[in-house]
Amino acid sequence: MNNLYRIAIIGGGKVGSALAQRVIEKNLAQVVLLDVVPGMPQGIALDMNQAGGLEGYERQVLGTNDYADTANSEIVIITAGLPRKPGMSRNDLLKINGEIVTQAAQQAIAQSPNAILILVTNPLDVMTYLAWQATQIPTQRIMGMAGVLDSARFQYFIAQELGVSIRDVSALVLGGHGDLMVPLPRYSTVGGIPITELMEPEVIDRLVERTRNGGAEIVNLMRTGGASLAPASAICTMVASILDNQKRQVAAAVYLEGQYGLSDIFVGVPCRLGQQGVEKILELDLTPEELAQLHRSAASVRENIQIASQK
Ligand code: NAI
Ligand code: 2OP
Repeated sequence: MNNLYRIAIIGGGKVGSALAQRVIEKNLAQVVLLDVVPGMPQGIALDMNQAGGLEGYERQVLGTNDYADTANSEIVIITAGLPRKPGMSRNDLLKINGEIVTQAAQQAIAQSPNAILILVTNPLDVMTYLAWQATQIPTQRIMGMAGVLDSARFQYFIAQELGVSIRDVSALVLGGHGDLMVPLPRYSTVGGIPITELMEPEVIDRLVERTRNGGAEIVNLMRTGGASLAPASAICTMVASILDNQKRQVAAAVYLEGQYGLSDIFVGVPCRLGQQGVEKILELDLTPEELAQLHRSAASVRENIQIASQK
């Protein structure tokens, strides 16, 4: 692997900083961590770099408030955004995060015009669309992270339920990153055997529902924020596949042009990730009910794109 890879993480909060740590601990790339808060990314960077000798990593984090420092990054990941605050509606949040993401994407791509862009900020599928509109980069080079995380959650719940090694479980979740996401039991397996042959339908329904509420369950438990560790692992999986040209086959929010009967939208479907970005989109032979669920989820994403785009 080329050890001079450089990635930029925009937003140095919980997810951004956890991702920086994952990336340098794996010696994947040099990391530029940017946030609007003065001193905060610089402090996180110093803290992480001082652990290098103890943990045995040589890559470093540069903390900054200046986009010029992100220049020539191979990958830009946007985690910048505001959480919903008391008195703020979902629609308010859509617009505020829409503006943050639009500006962040434009400024980062101005510095790294050939970068691959990965969106993380919520609502994920909408933010990915807005970032694409704002930058107009080729759709192969822009994607949203959600499917890897949602699939990892489903994978964990299946392993827990059956009492089997999580390493033997493979799970797949499509659709938008929200409560209409589409976990696919038929395509989720343990040692190659679909879970539909291993569990009663009511049990599967319960795990599907828990997966759909996976983010909310953690927010409700923590009360002071949301998940960051599994999200960071999910983003890191995508970053590694791109930098190392691994061709991992994962679910991600990618631009659809007729696949699954959907167009002009970013929504989670299976794809292959390599050095070129989204190198292939896979079209599964979904049942009418699975397809209807995917369309319901996509319709909700489309509705939110319209709200976020209203002046
Ligand atoms: P956080 O609040 O800890 O961090 C957000 C950071 O963005 C803050 O440090 C803030 O100062 C920074 N920021 C705000 N405006 C900015 C701007 N204009 N430019 C640069 N930085 C700016 O939030 P956390 O937990 O890190 O989550 C980040 C986002 O990721 C949220 O929208 C969250 O909902 C989303 N998320 C998405 C997941 C997914 O599966 N797609 C999973 C987990 C989180
Ligand atoms: C999550 O799924 C809230 O998107 C965030 O944890």
